[in-house]
Amino acid sequence: MTNIVDEFAGRVNPVSINIETLQYLDSMIKTKNITSVLEFGSGVSTEFWSEKLPDATIVSFDNSRRYTKITRSRLNRKAVNATVSFAPLRIKKIFGLHYITCKFLPKLRKIAPPKPFDVMLIDGPPGYLYAREATLLQAYPYLDENTLIILDDAERQIERETIARWSSVFKITNLEYHDVGQKQIATFNIEPKPSQPTMSKSPIYTRSKMVKLLLTFHRRNIMHNLWILKMRLLNRELFPDQKMADTE
Ligand SMILES: C[S@@+](CC[C@H](N)C(=O)[O-])C[C@H]1O[C@@H](n2cnc3c(N)ncnc32)[C@H](O)[C@@H]1O
Repeated sequence: MTNIVDEFAGRVNPVSINIETLQYLDSMIKTKNITSVLEFGSGVSTEFWSEKLPDATIVSFDNSRRYTKITRSRLNRKAVNATVSFAPLRIKKIFGLHYITCKFLPKLRKIAPPKPFDVMLIDGPPGYLYAREATLLQAYPYLDENTLIILDDAERQIERETIARWSSVFKITNLEYHDVGQKQIATFNIEPKPSQPTMSKSPIYTRSKMVKLLLTFHRRNIMHNLWILKMRLLNRELFPDQKMADTE
């Protein structure tokens, strides 16, 4: 347990996966033979998978071009097992509803391992976009009933509702909530055969709501990039979690 703290305490940040979750994942991978991981939301978790599972295939998607690059720069150069791809946000009709989702299927089709993934970690896109529901609705053909699905931030109402909504189209088994520090993660399996072609209606997943949220996302992105530009112009240090690793 202590080695996870030694190895990762200096890397975690307020939006990354926390140390307690990494400790949970570390114990979990020691009890299973994990050969592949599908991840939404790259960062410290991607470093963890690639370092702890050097022989596994790690496929990670991030909706931010900037954080895709940051994660890539921080992966050990010997980590040839991990692919981090930029998956831009789009509005898409899935299972009859409008979602914000990241565009990952074309890339996944090309690089998915031949067998279903052993683990799927859903830690992105950011919660306020309500976009996590769509990740599973699109990625399920790449899973089987043994895939361990892990949803971060499961203490939040929205993530709990998402699990309930998934259960209307997939049979969910082994659902457990784990306390990890200040937060919770949910772990479960699904039978990846949808029982119906549509998700039940929701006031959230409408086209107009999604358009508004996507505009909010782009506005925040612009503000963030302006802040980075300002720090550069003032020759000020960025926060460590905002910087690329040195690339010799
Ligand atoms: C919950 S975070 C994903 C964290 C990732 N699994 C990890 O362990 O670091 C969701 C999204 O926030 C963005 N993000 C990552 N690091 C960030 C940071 N330091 N500040 C703001 N946003 C960040 C990325 O686009 C990421 O996909």
